Amino acid sequence: MGNVCGGQTNAVDAPSALKATTEPATEPAVAKTADATAVKPAEEKKEAGTDAVASKPAKKLKIFIIFYSTYGHVYKLAETYKTALEALDDVEVYLYQVAETLPAEVLEKMHAGPKPDVPLADPLKLPEADAVVFGFPTRFGMMCSQMKNFFDATGMLWQNGALHGKPASLFTSTASQGGGQETTLMTAVTQLAHHGMIYVPAGYAAGQGMFGVQEAKGGSPWGAGTLAGPDGSRQPSEIELEAIRVQARTFAQAAKKLAA
Ligand SMILES: Cc1cc2nc3c(=O)[nH]c(=O)nc-3n(C[C@H](O)[C@H](O)[C@H](O)COP(=O)(O)O)c2cc1C
Repeated sequence: MGNVCGGQTNAVDAPSALKATTEPATEPAVAKTADATAVKPAEEKKEAGTDAVASKPAKKLKIFIIFYSTYGHVYKLAETYKTALEALDDVEVYLYQVAETLPAEVLEKMHAGPKPDVPLADPLKLPEADAVVFGFPTRFGMMCSQMKNFFDATGMLWQNGALHGKPASLFTSTASQGGGQETTLMTAVTQLAHHGMIYVPAGYAAGQGMFGVQEAKGGSPWGAGTLAGPDGSRQPSEIELEAIRVQARTFAQAAKKLAA
């Protein structure tokens, strides 16, 4: 495979306190294996009749939420997703934004909002997560290039199969109702498939809120979403926010089962 997939730790221009330093991408996977081995004697002890293991607290499920947002809509959804996850037992949540790729003068012409005070995501840290949530606005019916840039920096993880089997969840934002709520997430599944990640769709778990046609709203069985409106002035509605809370709960449930 050589380096066709950018198997270099410096392939990403995303300086951050979180940026990987020297550890290889495979390290967490190796550590996981080592953990599994380390638990074995304790399990044997339990089988032998001691309850030494019974009091050991359950390992928390580590979920990363990784998002990009130009005007704040996806950020709002990401925060809502995070709050819903934090309300659950046995889950620890980390919120990251991906690096901007557009020049400042272009962002200014686009009237982009200020960047939220959220640490930058480091693609090489993904193996540390038990499950990953990705949120991004649409660009012409597909994932924005900033998030694609993030995925493009995961070539080394792909080569190592470091994300194989990790559950993933998606959400999005579009300006209009027919602007790509479904296509943006459908096409993002390609990224997950190549990594062997397990896509967990939202389905219709959000119930009645998904069926109403009285008001315009984002979201689909592919994942929650909001509509920003043509000028970006519309804010996520309560129906959309509730759908993302439901998605957070059902995703955590599925991820726990997969991690068990
Ligand atoms: C270059 C570009 C392309 C876009 N393409 C679409 C599109 O295909 N469909 C759509 O509904 N909105 C489109 N939008 C609107 C964005 O999706 C919208 O601004 C975004 O969902 C708001 O989310 P944010 O506040 O998190 O950035 C586009 C915006 C830009 C800048």
